[in-house]
Amino acid sequence: MHLHKYEKLWLIFGVSSLIVFLTVLGIGAFYKGMHPPSHLATIDPQNVEAHEAFKEENLGLRQLDEDKYIVSVIASAFNYNLGKDEDGASVNNIRIPVGSTVVFQVTTTDVVHGFQLAGTNVNMMVEPGYISSLETEFNKPGTYTLLCNEYCGTGHHYMAATVEVYQ
Ligand code: CUA
Repeated sequence: MHLHKYEKLWLIFGVSSLIVFLTVLGIGAFYKGMHPPSHLATIDPQNVEAHEAFKEENLGLRQLDEDKYIVSVIASAFNYNLGKDEDGASVNNIRIPVGSTVVFQVTTTDVVHGFQLAGTNVNMMVEPGYISSLETEFNKPGTYTLLCNEYCGTGHHYMAATVEVYQ
């Protein structure tokens, strides 16, 4: 008789745990869906320049609206191509006014790279053949480090750039 009671208790416990687990999983999936680092768009990794967003002149920061920007980046071993400045030097720092909304769209020409902006919610995996994009709002001034968090080879640790959010 006692055993039967315990079995019942364990069954209730088991079912409850399952419900909690599924609920957490559901909320997790839903929450993730609200902030999609999307992988929906495809691209030819051998010819990314054929895509309007990744043409040489469109790389790096572009202003779309008063407080809206887009940043197009080509990742490859071992750097982030953010375009060139007026002097023809590679851009390694992007300056954005505080309060701006920024869409990052990133692709890679070789292997899988990471795209993480430390201290923000920007954290994407960049895979060959896909365009990863994410929108974020910068409300805190500061200098944020962009780094690769997917091991991509010997120069992996040197893959970095900065985003400066100014007042
Ligand atoms: Cu690119 Cu690690």
